[in-house]
Amino acid sequence: MSLETTIRPVPPIPAISADDGGIAVDDGDTHENGGAKPAGGRNADVSAKAAPSERPWPKVAGLAFGGDYNPEQWDESVWPEDIRLMQAAGVNLVSVGIFAWVRLEPRPGVFDFGWLDRILDLLHDGGISVDLGTPTAAPPAWFYRAQPESWVVDADGRRLGPGSRGICCPSSPAYAAASARITTALAERYSAHPAVLMWHVHNEYGAPVSQCHCEQSQIAFREWLLLTYDTLDAINDAWGTNFWGQRYGELDEIRTPAASASVINPAQQLDYQRFCDHQLLSCYLRERDILRTWSADKPVTTNFMATNCPSVNLWGWAPEVDVVSNDHYLTAERTDRHVLLAMDADLTRSLAGGRPWMLMEHSTSAVNWQPRNLAKEPGEMARNSLAHIARGADAALFFQWRGSRSGAEKFHSSMLPHAGTNSEQWTELVDLGRTIKALADVRGTTVTAEVALLWDWESFWAQDLDWHPSVDLDHRERTIAFYTRLWQDNVTVDFAHPTADLSGYKLVIVPQVYLLDQDAADNLDTFVTGGGQLLVSYFSGVVDAHDAVHPQGLSGPVGEVLGISVQEFAPLAQGQHVALDLWGQNASADVWADRLVLTDPATQILGTFTDGPAAGRPALTRRRIGQGSAWYLATRLDPESLALVMDPLYAAAGVTPVAGLPHGLEMVTRRDHSQTFYFLLNHTDQPVDVPLSGTDVISGERHEHSVPVPATQVIVIRQQH
Ligand code: GLA
Repeated sequence: MSLETTIRPVPPIPAISADDGGIAVDDGDTHENGGAKPAGGRNADVSAKAAPSERPWPKVAGLAFGGDYNPEQWDESVWPEDIRLMQAAGVNLVSVGIFAWVRLEPRPGVFDFGWLDRILDLLHDGGISVDLGTPTAAPPAWFYRAQPESWVVDADGRRLGPGSRGICCPSSPAYAAASARITTALAERYSAHPAVLMWHVHNEYGAPVSQCHCEQSQIAFREWLLLTYDTLDAINDAWGTNFWGQRYGELDEIRTPAASASVINPAQQLDYQRFCDHQLLSCYLRERDILRTWSADKPVTTNFMATNCPSVNLWGWAPEVDVVSNDHYLTAERTDRHVLLAMDADLTRSLAGGRPWMLMEHSTSAVNWQPRNLAKEPGEMARNSLAHIARGADAALFFQWRGSRSGAEKFHSSMLPHAGTNSEQWTELVDLGRTIKALADVRGTTVTAEVALLWDWESFWAQDLDWHPSVDLDHRERTIAFYTRLWQDNVTVDFAHPTADLSGYKLVIVPQVYLLDQDAADNLDTFVTGGGQLLVSYFSGVVDAHDAVHPQGLSGPVGEVLGISVQEFAPLAQGQHVALDLWGQNASADVWADRLVLTDPATQILGTFTDGPAAGRPALTRRRIGQGSAWYLATRLDPESLALVMDPLYAAAGVTPVAGLPHGLEMVTRRDHSQTFYFLLNHTDQPVDVPLSGTDVISGERHEHSVPVPATQVIVIRQQH
């Protein structure tokens, strides 16, 4: 293959302060740590509601529709057909170049932009805009060979080399320099290209690896610790190193928590997670700032995986992107996959501070990386895309445009499938493109919620460490359980960090947030004092930011808000169930019980364990403070019993579940000052009627009092105010 290689001068590489093996990259702006010194082990100031910058939304007409486009995988003779078929499908935005580093820089400092010039011009001529990727998630083989010290070393000491994709060690100075060089070269060349509307940095930070234990990481970890804690004494104190004789006499004795004989200090592990998150964020910020230097007017994003990337704290990342974008893939074998999709979309909207966001990737049908990759059912692709749009997305993009013939993802579905255009998949895609075009007026409208679920990655990191009271404790399961109840009641939900401003909500639920420090407790107190209803579920607020039990005991400062004190955990045996009395009604629970006492006269007992290890003790309590109340639930209720708690909570909060909707019909609203859009998603194989009036946005048909929604289909109704 002849590369039309242009030998170009190498753009300036940001200086690296390597004198001490350090990791700081100085590009004239201070953005290591996002410009702020981390406080008390935490990386980001997440106290404000996460909000990306006010940079403009990419200038696409209407909603964006398209996907990842990897033209470098195809002969150029295929490209005109790509453009023609994209036009036929209504595609208006594609992400280009995400894994194309070696094609753009085939040898160090030698660039080949000819092919990218040509495809960008073709796309522009065809009326298709571009989200241009920086390809730094796939370093070339020449880089791995030249810089073996940049290979990721995993916790077992294995070195992860080339042949796949994935970041190098995020603390590597050589990786920093090489990724800055290719980013600068792209920014310099394409910032003014009329096809390029936005920048897409890297790909899914945190996947497939987020941690590295190489010697450069050891140095960087110690630097981060010193920046965070100032002194070795403070590190020892924060980590409680008097336990098991772990006290450090010198900073250089500290290593990343890799393999060890038994459980490694949990506070050290928690700080290591924060460090890894910080290093990845620094990688993103380095590229973002280069792009902003060259490209002042174009938004920069990086694609998140909201509920599916446990290793990055997106509350800290969201304010650093100009547009929040997200990738979501169904867990194909779960029958509640559409509920999990809704949860992911709601978390993404919350990360965007309520503003519209981009669905950067989803799949037209099966993926290729699950144990059994089920094809989507007829209608499911459109339901999925429109469910994201219903919950605030102004873009529905897929991975990927044309199915790859080679490589690890050749069995992944695509917009243009292996079956070609003479296929049901293609017909459905073209229909979806038409629908999305018809929904142009939805763009910019917003979704509002009266209920928030707390969500905190740092708490998840801490809870997922070793040696906790029961293997059945599972924050994700609890979050899904509460979310599902709310979804079934058609109550729209936001997610919030424990220290976020909660004043806009009527009801806040803490499903299982193990780590809640004093600030969070104060915030919850303010919420309740201000008239809110708060429900805290068991195993919440147990430890502080250093994974240490609070001085107040097992229920910590949140227990003071609740007017209770957990004296002892009483987890249940596998399969054991306990009975409860809730307002004279029988209820059932499993997994957990607390032995708790009341600490405030204003706390009432609303439910009691009638058997099991906490028999006769409170299972559900409520402390009234002014107009607000703080409720505590000391066990895992089964789904029917949970409804017994949620209904009075809704009533106390003044939250009205949408009643009277057919089973399996999801309704979500987006609105602005002049109009409301009702998205009616029929997840069943039966037609249903929804009691509503308005105009069908797609067909133009007017409905009075009843809207028929065909089996598996979506109807969008507009009401003008
Ligand atoms: C992720 C990646 C894509 C692709 C898809 C496949 O989302 O970002 O490059 O691998 O998964 O589902």
